[in-house]
Amino acid sequence: MKKKYSGFFISIEGGDGVGKTTAIKSLEEKLKQNGINYYLTREPGGSKISESIRNIILDKNNKEEDPKTEALLYAASRRQHLVEIVIPRLEKGELVITDRYIDSSLAYQGYARGIGIKKVYLINSFAIDNYLPDLTFFLELSPQEGLKRISNNKRAVDRLDQEKESFHQKVYDGYHILIKKYRKRFVVVDASKTPDEIANFMFNKILEIKQK
Ligand SMILES: Nc1ncnc2c1ncn2[C@@H]1O[C@H](COP(=O)(O)OP(=O)(O)OP(=O)(O)O)[C@@H](O)[C@H]1O
Ligand SMILES: [Mg+2]
Repeated sequence: MKKKYSGFFISIEGGDGVGKTTAIKSLEEKLKQNGINYYLTREPGGSKISESIRNIILDKNNKEEDPKTEALLYAASRRQHLVEIVIPRLEKGELVITDRYIDSSLAYQGYARGIGIKKVYLINSFAIDNYLPDLTFFLELSPQEGLKRISNNKRAVDRLDQEKESFHQKVYDGYHILIKKYRKRFVVVDASKTPDEIANFMFNKILEIKQK
């Protein structure tokens, strides 16, 4: 399908604590050093409405939250962030990098929560129209290692982190289904490397793929 915009849209994906945010920070340095303009965001990404929706999702007290409600809220939050923050920049020709996007919903709510990847894809395609990323980096690390990285560094634990290890394993398996399904868009990154090595790898891939 023909792109609707002149910019380039990248998402970074992977389980909890695998190092997405850290890798993006290192990537930023590289982009800056090389004079490449970019816009970095994350869901809910500074959109007031998206932020409010996200607070409902991650509130540890919302134990009764239904899985489909969770999926719908994420899709709603995603749409608002897309419309307010992402699309205007893609239309201006910018490189937009987002820390998580649709594949998180497919892996977490679709596969790990058991709603089904197809069903979650349906509500998300309504939410995002055809704005799929041009390139998606998946940070490959075992869920055990990811959780260890979080607990070592004492990030605040949210409702989804509290899930059992088997949930995080399913998230990982779900991502691997998506990688097979969307081969063209996904690039797998070895997240056991240092943030600098990871950023170098991503930087070179971006240059390679953007030039195609
Ligand atoms: N490449 C790496 N090697 C070793 N430790 C790392 C690496 N990347 C990140 N870490 C550490 O792991 C912890 C989790 O990293 P980070 O917050 O970047 O993960 P994340 O994937 O963004 O997590 P979340 O899903 O919670 O947003 C951090 O405390 C960070 O210092
Ligand atoms: Mg993060």
